[in-house]
Amino acid sequence: MKSKFEEIKEIEDQYQLNTYKKLPISIERGEGVYVYDTNHKKYLDLYGGHAVAIVGHSHPHIVKAITEQVNKLIFYSNVVYLEIRAKASEAIINVAPTEINKVFFCNSGAEANETALKIARRFTGKQTVIAMKNSFHGRTIGALSATSLGNYRNQFAPVIDAFKFVEFGKISAIEEVLSDDVAGIILEPIQSMAGIEIADDQYYKALRDICTEKGIVLIFDEVQTAFGRTGSWFFGDAIGVTPDLITCAKGIGGGIPVGAVLINEDISKTIKHGEHGSTFGGGPIASAAILANIEIIKNENLLSNALEIGSYITENLMGIPIVKNVKGKGLLLGIELNEEAAKVRDYLLERGIITGTSAKKNVLRLLPPIILKKEDLGIFFEALKEYSK
Ligand SMILES: Cc1ncc(COP(=O)(O)O)c(C=O)c1O
Repeated sequence: MKSKFEEIKEIEDQYQLNTYKKLPISIERGEGVYVYDTNHKKYLDLYGGHAVAIVGHSHPHIVKAITEQVNKLIFYSNVVYLEIRAKASEAIINVAPTEINKVFFCNSGAEANETALKIARRFTGKQTVIAMKNSFHGRTIGALSATSLGNYRNQFAPVIDAFKFVEFGKISAIEEVLSDDVAGIILEPIQSMAGIEIADDQYYKALRDICTEKGIVLIFDEVQTAFGRTGSWFFGDAIGVTPDLITCAKGIGGGIPVGAVLINEDISKTIKHGEHGSTFGGGPIASAAILANIEIIKNENLLSNALEIGSYITENLMGIPIVKNVKGKGLLLGIELNEEAAKVRDYLLERGIITGTSAKKNVLRLLPPIILKKEDLGIFFEALKEYSK
């Protein structure tokens, strides 16, 4: 007799477009940092449903907020005003850097990046955008054109031919390609899919200075880093750098699909009716989820928790034989192994721990809920020690 997992797998494989390589489990429910499969096996989720479950799975405050909203109104578009959207917009601007005064809501990271690229071109009247080597910004044509990692872009060539790719973390590489037609610079402040690459603080400050001096729009793709993952609401907060546009998605809706672009006042005041839009952007359920998510991050002091637990993980990992190094910030971590990361990921999965891999063969990625506690982590350290034997 087939197991429930086998039944589900057979149907998904038959009907869902074959674009994803999946782990051999089917998840049925989640609670906090744990998820449970259809065999009732419990997993510690250090992958966070791909960095989405920032406040954990089915947080009761998110569940309550979206349930109440669903009972009142499931959807109305931006053609009318909504109290819940007003509250969510105000809340997100209140946690954003002071120079940022407006938000545009959409539905995904790629859509947020498409929006930012349009805004940069519209604001400057220019077209060239500097992006980073090994970047990942999404899979729609504009976002894909800004993506240089792996083969995502090349297999769809020609894409939009307006991007210049430079080495991440190196200011001289930017200076070499600067020209009068540059509209924007887009980067992930921590390159995640690339294997968790982070630059030194000076790099981000120098980027800010160049963009201010030349009138270039600085875009931080914070799809993975926003809302506390690196220990501050937004990556630049901790180092005193505010980009002109911040794109967010993944964790900001507590599991509900949401994207957002945060826009500084100099730019936002130039944007007019009809220049951009998105039917579902800022819908009532998404707005209720964003608002509840912000309340949780504040009330549960999750920014400092992300930093504390990130350091705790790093300290504990450094003594484990297969671990060569730990990179990243807060709870966006890349564990450099002297072993193939996919093998270790599979070993951990068997032992009830979900982790991620990256484009670097020997880097295991952690993107857990930032509600993670020290006491959750014992089995993870033990499993890695066991593997090392
Ligand atoms: C840094 C970054 N930007 C953009 C995206 C695209 O987001 P989405 O899949 O929501 O379109 C991702 C997705 O992994 C990402 O990691």
